Amino acid sequence: MNESRLKIAVQRSGRLSDATLQILERCGLKINPSKNKLITHVKNMPIDILFVRDDDIPGLVMEGFVDLGFVGENTMQEVSLQRAKFGENALFENLIKLDYGHCRLSLATPEENQYINIRSLEGSRIATSYPYLLGEFLKKEGVSAKIVHLTGSVEVAPRAGLADAICDLVSTGVTLEANGLREVEVMLRSSATLVQRMDIAPGPDKELIARLIVRIKGVIKARESKYIMLHAPLDKVDAIIDILPGAEKPTILPLAGSDKQVAIHAVSTETVFWETMESLKKLGGSSILVLPIEKMLE
Ligand code: PRP
Ligand code: ZN
Repeated sequence: MNESRLKIAVQRSGRLSDATLQILERCGLKINPSKNKLITHVKNMPIDILFVRDDDIPGLVMEGFVDLGFVGENTMQEVSLQRAKFGENALFENLIKLDYGHCRLSLATPEENQYINIRSLEGSRIATSYPYLLGEFLKKEGVSAKIVHLTGSVEVAPRAGLADAICDLVSTGVTLEANGLREVEVMLRSSATLVQRMDIAPGPDKELIARLIVRIKGVIKARESKYIMLHAPLDKVDAIIDILPGAEKPTILPLAGSDKQVAIHAVSTETVFWETMESLKKLGGSSILVLPIEKMLE
């Protein structure tokens, strides 16, 4: 049997790992992730998942070793800049901006150091795992500083006397705080993205990718949406529909044994806040339920 299998690269362990596996499972892939294994065969689809370091994903995609990669935009940008410096093209296509992995690439300095503006970093040493993005930023700002390239534990560099400042990813800010650092400049904002190698020829792989894209978009849409059900007085139906957030064409159903009350069912594409529910209640709404949606296909 020489069946072609789609190869997808996923971060082995880190900020994107769990959310990526969750989205793939919600897309119907039966995955048996074994943290010690580099590769896992999806049981119910011709797909192999490769668990690798996130920093290796852009290269694997650009060299065509894998078909798809779930990776941070920041990592993609760093490797693209690096390749440009070496005269190589960044060969990949962005397929979907994902709804997780939100973070920012920021500059941070020890809390006790005075920081006025970016000029304060003139002549300093800045530790980072993103030397190309940092280099470009400093150039744009007209600041000359020494870039200390570290592949990990960047946040301990100032305390270890290796640097005066750092440039690193921040999401909750816990790492900075734990290391006595203060975020002073946001260089770029990033989230996870799904990228594809260039020039996938028409055929089963391309068709499978197209199906996956529809499913991933459906999972994201479903996550953002809620199903709202409530009972309402018939004469308040219009007023109630007006305040349902992002709800189109709700369903109005009769209620057994009542000609003055109806049930309203609607899909809301926005967050339903407590304030909205309270307003619905004020208009005479009762039995108000807000339910998560598992899957959505439009
Ligand atoms: C980043 C960064 C910090 C941490 C910040 O590492 O290097 O260590 O996350 O997150 P926080 O603001 O929520 O504390 P990442 O998860 O990208 O791991 P990696 O550097 O090993 O790829
Ligand atoms: Zn990393």
